[in-house]
Amino acid sequence: MKRILVLNGPNLNMLGTREPEIYGSTTLDDINDMLRARAAQLDVDEIAFMQSNIEGELVTAIQNARNRYDFILLNAGAFTHYSIALRDAIASVDVPVIELHISNVHAREEFRHQSVIAPVVMGQVLGFGVDSYLAALDIAVRKLGGVV
Ligand code: DQA
Repeated sequence: MKRILVLNGPNLNMLGTREPEIYGSTTLDDINDMLRARAAQLDVDEIAFMQSNIEGELVTAIQNARNRYDFILLNAGAFTHYSIALRDAIASVDVPVIELHISNVHAREEFRHQSVIAPVVMGQVLGFGVDSYLAALDIAVRKLGGVV
């Protein structure tokens, strides 16, 4: 099965108007529409979307993904850099996670260079703007045995 959960963390609901020089002008709804369309092309069985500004809700979403989804695409926003709770949630489920970022966090402030979730995810896609989401979806489908 190819069931994919797309999880977005804090402030990603502000995409489109939030610091457009860094994050572009595409809204999260636009991104989700693009992912839905691409998922249909790739014969994905299910693609679901969730965004939360609340750390605990993201932890619960990751826990609930167990036995429910086959891959998680996660833009954890600022939680990437300091949430041990998110890291532990990812480590506690056997669902593979792709960490993704719109911006190239390594080209930005020092505090964005560290990802506390990096050691427990399958891999990272970052710096490609909204294409980071599409690339992560393609990778997930390939890992699940689909043809891209
Ligand atoms: C981000 C990068 C993070 O450092 C930042 O806190 C975000 C967005 C990105 O997608 O580039 O909220 O995850």
